[in-house]
Amino acid sequence: AAVVQYQAESATISNGLVESNHAGFTGSGFVNYDNEVGSSVEFTVNAGTAGPATLTFRFANGQTANRPMDISVNGSVAASQLSFPSTGAWTTWTTKSTTVTLNAGSNKIKTVATTVNGGPNLDRIDVDAGSGTPDTTA
Ligand code: GCU
Repeated sequence: AAVVQYQAESATISNGLVESNHAGFTGSGFVNYDNEVGSSVEFTVNAGTAGPATLTFRFANGQTANRPMDISVNGSVAASQLSFPSTGAWTTWTTKSTTVTLNAGSNKIKTVATTVNGGPNLDRIDVDAGSGTPDTTA
């Protein structure tokens, strides 16, 4: 089926806030990670079949420094220090993709800030888990 969108403001947030003060987000807002190592957002995503899935993160980073995050899938780091470089302004949103392996059914995708700046502002992730996946949203 199609790509499924998962809004960050609906995910499980540890040390971050849902905000809506920078235009251009989708849904009802975005997550502002606390400016510290370890602030995180965890998504529960569905895959119809086990196998590779493309995760596309929609984010903004209005500062100059990269804000890398570790991307874990079901408790294991699948993408270490994935870069979320400057987008030039907090209202300028762009995407970053990575491919991971999902289990059939429910999966936990955790995005964890690895620098003292915290993560970027995160709008949502889009999950393309292949043809077996139902068109559900979360
Ligand atoms: C500013 C900005 C926030 C952002 C924060 C940060 O405060 O308004 O949206 O999250 O910087 O540096 O993380």
